Amino acid sequence: MGLFPIGPSLECCPHLHSTSIECTIGSSMYSGKQGAHSCSMVHGSPTWTFSAPATRLMSTTSSVPTSLISPKGPSYSKIFDVLGGGIFNSDSESWRIQRKMAHSLISSKRFGAFVARTSQEKVDKGLVHVLKHIIKHGQGIIDLQDVFQRFSFDSTCILVFGVDPGSLAVDFPTVPFAKAMDDAMEAVAFRHAMPESWWMLLKWLNIGWEKKLAEGWKIIDQFINQHISTRREALHKSKTQGVESDCEGEDLLTAYINYQPGDELAILNSAKFLRDTTVNLMLAGRDTTGAALTWFFWVVSMNPEVETKILQELKATSPKLREGWHGKLKVFDAEELSQLVFLHAALCESLRLFPPVPFEHKSVFQPQVLPTGETVLPETKILIPLYAMGRMESIWGKDCLEFKPERWISERGKLKFEPSYKFMAFNSGPRNCLGKEVAFTQMKTVAAALLLNFHIQVLEGHPVSPKVSIILHMKNGLMVRVRERYPDAMK
Ligand code: HEM
Repeated sequence: MGLFPIGPSLECCPHLHSTSIECTIGSSMYSGKQGAHSCSMVHGSPTWTFSAPATRLMSTTSSVPTSLISPKGPSYSKIFDVLGGGIFNSDSESWRIQRKMAHSLISSKRFGAFVARTSQEKVDKGLVHVLKHIIKHGQGIIDLQDVFQRFSFDSTCILVFGVDPGSLAVDFPTVPFAKAMDDAMEAVAFRHAMPESWWMLLKWLNIGWEKKLAEGWKIIDQFINQHISTRREALHKSKTQGVESDCEGEDLLTAYINYQPGDELAILNSAKFLRDTTVNLMLAGRDTTGAALTWFFWVVSMNPEVETKILQELKATSPKLREGWHGKLKVFDAEELSQLVFLHAALCESLRLFPPVPFEHKSVFQPQVLPTGETVLPETKILIPLYAMGRMESIWGKDCLEFKPERWISERGKLKFEPSYKFMAFNSGPRNCLGKEVAFTQMKTVAAALLLNFHIQVLEGHPVSPKVSIILHMKNGLMVRVRERYPDAMK
């Protein structure tokens, strides 16, 4: 089984090798000012604190604080201002109301069926179509990261707005909204790396990443506001004139517009609320699933024995395949996907080693003493390095750096439950991910169809390394050669 390197170490605290990539964001800023800052760690404690003028940073690999500290706090909402007052960026009562609403909509059976149906369609008509085209016209060489980002962008737009923007097409069009989201998130990552006064100055001067963010922000607002007014008009027409809407209203925007809040919640249906909510949902679903799929396909290609086991399971699960299928491309349905234990385990294992959200940013409203003894002050930025925690021996054992889907399977062949404070990829505590099931449906639909129908090989010598950002992308993309497994079936 493959072994994976631990993330880059922290320059100012070389003993903290396991404290992962986000620490380098902080340290790179201060590497020239070694005298002006201090770094402290109680021996044996999973927490360290970094202090410098205008910045106090705490990083902890103890899972306890994650469930104790759920507020994002004022520094988070300033850094992520482009998200407005949406669920990621809110605390207290506003967050509680939004979480309740989002939970009831995302976890409904109706929405679950919508996710399963649209994922299958997008894989069949979008993903597979593009790969077949590349095999026929481009020798099968492609950047899989780009393909998955496009797939998850289109899929998330379908779920959120009920509209497919068609970024996954054979001519790989540039979609300004997708590019604007990328720029905005990269600017936000830079903001984590510098004192607030610095990036505020850049913002005021409108230069560098702050300029890109401002430009991206405009494009994001235009795209979203246009979709909100189109959907509102269509729904209004369908109500007043009996004109049928082009979409049956299974998307989240329609559900939010039709949501019947009590009087005290009426404000939630305002244009600003819909803008902030949809931009947050786009961020939640888009990059995460795309990044998870990219790392999964890379790690599977490095571990051919895992790929063989996944293929065996796929063939054993589908009655069509058991009968020696020779027909058209096979895309798995929801019932078949629910039986794929080994594939599910392999995805969890990949998410453990490569969590798409590599670190969490939290804070407290009032001074709080952690069970580990450290006091957290309101001005302290708390970083929880999920990336490092997924590969720590104290949490996952001696084989923590091995890619071993078997660790997720019980002796009886069922999926083994790992508590969320141990498997942190979807966060733990009151702010855990609301889209975990959605993500697994999408990832399993893609992984099963692609692994069964195509042979995907990473190009020899292609450098794979993580890019420091809010989302764990690959720095150089993932260049692969794709071939059909059953050429006769592809005709
Ligand atoms: C592999 C895919 C995904 C991963 C690894 C993931 C991971 C996470 C993580 C780590 C958080 C906590 C973030 C924070 O508090 O800063 C989170 C929150 C959230 N996720 Fe996901 N996510 C994924 C996909 C999705 C999808 C597809 C959706 C929606 C359709 C979604 C909806 C949300 C929402 C609404 C929250 C905010 C919860 C709150 O603050 O109360 N996620 N997710």
